[in-house]
Amino acid sequence: MSQIDYIVKPGGQLSGEFRVPGDKSISHRSIMFGAIADGTTHVTGFLQGEDSLNTLRAFRAMGVKIEGPDDNGEVTIHGVGIDGLKEPEGEIDLGNSGTSIRLMSGLLSAQSFDVVLSGDSSLSRRPMKRVTEPLALMGVQVDTGEGGRPPLKISGGSVINGIDYTMPMASAQVKSCVLLAGMYAKGQTCVTEPATTRDHTERMLNAFGYAVETNANQMCIQGGGRLTACDIDVPADISSAAFYMVGASIAENSDITLQHVGVNPTRTGVIDILKLMGANIELLNERIVGGEPVADIRIRSAQLKGINVPEALVPLAIDEFPVLFVAAAYAEGKTVITGAEELRVKESDRIQVMADGLQAIGVNAEATSDGMIINGGPVMGGKVHSRDDHRIAMAFTMAGLCAKSDIIIEDCENVNTSFPDFIGIANRAGISVSILK
Ligand code: S3P
Repeated sequence: MSQIDYIVKPGGQLSGEFRVPGDKSISHRSIMFGAIADGTTHVTGFLQGEDSLNTLRAFRAMGVKIEGPDDNGEVTIHGVGIDGLKEPEGEIDLGNSGTSIRLMSGLLSAQSFDVVLSGDSSLSRRPMKRVTEPLALMGVQVDTGEGGRPPLKISGGSVINGIDYTMPMASAQVKSCVLLAGMYAKGQTCVTEPATTRDHTERMLNAFGYAVETNANQMCIQGGGRLTACDIDVPADISSAAFYMVGASIAENSDITLQHVGVNPTRTGVIDILKLMGANIELLNERIVGGEPVADIRIRSAQLKGINVPEALVPLAIDEFPVLFVAAAYAEGKTVITGAEELRVKESDRIQVMADGLQAIGVNAEATSDGMIINGGPVMGGKVHSRDDHRIAMAFTMAGLCAKSDIIIEDCENVNTSFPDFIGIANRAGISVSILK
């Protein structure tokens, strides 16, 4: 694939009402749970990004008949039942997708067949011991590549047992992995999380008729149940909406409404943080769609101010920090982020890569072990590198809106993993970004 670089010209203002693509976390789970349910699951609003398509292809490779997605994001999954998956031919390549590999390691922990889960160069650098350790405690036979990294080799035929597991880090992927393995384990499996993380797995399993009980920060599931097919309406991804929330806040005279955005309280940290910074954000038309809260979100320009980001909000906004760092660069005064060391093990080291890029465009930003200190001020133009990370590429696109000159962002191919047609939507909203020829 040839390299794609973006060029952003300053001076845009954002306006209009539009819908960003479907939620990535919910899209992945709709395929996984629909595949092992009894009956036919209909999904609308499915994210047609590379990450969720990799999950879809993986389940097709394990014998599940899946129709779509069509142009409207409609997908029909003919579930094979909890024990109906078939051995795939060869290994399953999950591309860039951490959610796929970590959730599927739990789901595939006690099948009758062996399976190998692998990924691209970024995924192959990411830590997997966080899932293989609890799985091993359950009795799963799982091997990793060097240093606890992919590929994961899971041996079939294990009889596994429920555990009571306290997670060392706040991770929805680890929680989900253990709960999904728990469906195949003898007895009860409980997971305790150190801080609240996204709860889409718990909500969607309940929607498929498989009970997950939540008590404060502990979630429990009984092994040996079954899932019943249902309809899933995937809302727009708040993580994709976040770029436009920041863009419309920093670009003068902006006024946009983002339609049908998922506002699950375990995901809305970005709204809380931006409001603390002085953003003008309104939730309209709040409703519940298929067990998930949804709203239209109106954002108007505002002068942001620097804050100390409360650590409790960090896991609730974990994917939004690249663009929140950009918001801080445009804010008046100092913003301090702490307790966000998980950012170092995302698709890239998001603390280092963002600090390097911000410094390259003249921002006073200092990386710390678990966050960043940013002094707002004028943002110059220049060249930054996304390090193959979709959210870094999109964050710097917003940085270009009010910079003193053009910003060139290198290696933006992976924007497609989570946000197909990012440039088209950005252009229609009023941002001058294009592929550099
Ligand atoms: C996700 C959980 C988060 C998030 C990722 C999606 C999920 O990862 O960063 O983009 O769908 O469960 P961690 O569990 O590693 O925090």
